[in-house]
Amino acid sequence: MNRGRFISFEGIDGAGKSSHIAALAEWLRARGHRVRLTREPGGTPLAEALRSLFLEQPMDALTEALLVFAGRRDHLAQVIAPALRRGEFVLCDRFTDATFAYQGAGRGFDLGVLAQLEQWVQRSPELAEGFIAPDLTLWFDVPAEVAAQRRAAAREADRLEREDLDFFGRVRSGYAQRAAAAPQRFVRIDGHQAIEAVWQQVQQALEGQTWA
Ligand SMILES: Nc1ncnc2c1ncn2[C@@H]1O[C@H](COP(=O)(O)OP(=O)(O)O)[C@@H](O)[C@H]1O
Ligand SMILES: [Mg+2]
Repeated sequence: MNRGRFISFEGIDGAGKSSHIAALAEWLRARGHRVRLTREPGGTPLAEALRSLFLEQPMDALTEALLVFAGRRDHLAQVIAPALRRGEFVLCDRFTDATFAYQGAGRGFDLGVLAQLEQWVQRSPELAEGFIAPDLTLWFDVPAEVAAQRRAAAREADRLEREDLDFFGRVRSGYAQRAAAAPQRFVRIDGHQAIEAVWQQVQQALEGQTWA
């Protein structure tokens, strides 16, 4: 059986990730694929418990990075790698690019240390595939002001969402840097458009893949 495909959804809080992930799951199922929807931080009982701590408790950037990578390790081992082995499509709401964008660009934490953690957590003998990373990353890009307005209209802010516009501006730049470093993996979705127009871009991004 073919190995499945791993698609991550990225972008600042309020960019539109969650608005499109279920629709893409349905679109892929209609094309005959088996789809597993999941998210980070989280995705397993352990990682969801870490997510609650991460989103509620004050902590420094190193602690944030260690918590999200600890959860990611469990998520990869318990959910993502087995689903890919079964040939499923894994759609993940945020993955490691978010750690580089938030803890790296947003908090100013050492990118070299994050790159080391990425290697340790996503490559190991127990993960028989070697290094696991997304095949495709949909980056929902919107200005920080637009995302803040959407969030304010939609929901109560969590610990990260209470950060200011400068923080989200840095996170957005962090995503732009990750996209520039991996242009074959990233597709930038212009999220500052009507939902239907954003959805068209998501479909086009998938239609551009030989395997979708
Ligand atoms: N293209 C869009 N135009 C206007 N509002 C949007 C658009 N996309 C999403 N929203 C709204 O903005 C809010 C945040 O969207 P959401 O998908 O939860 O973002 P994220 O998951 O990236 O944080 C939601 O209330 C959603 O309905
Ligand atoms: Mg969301």
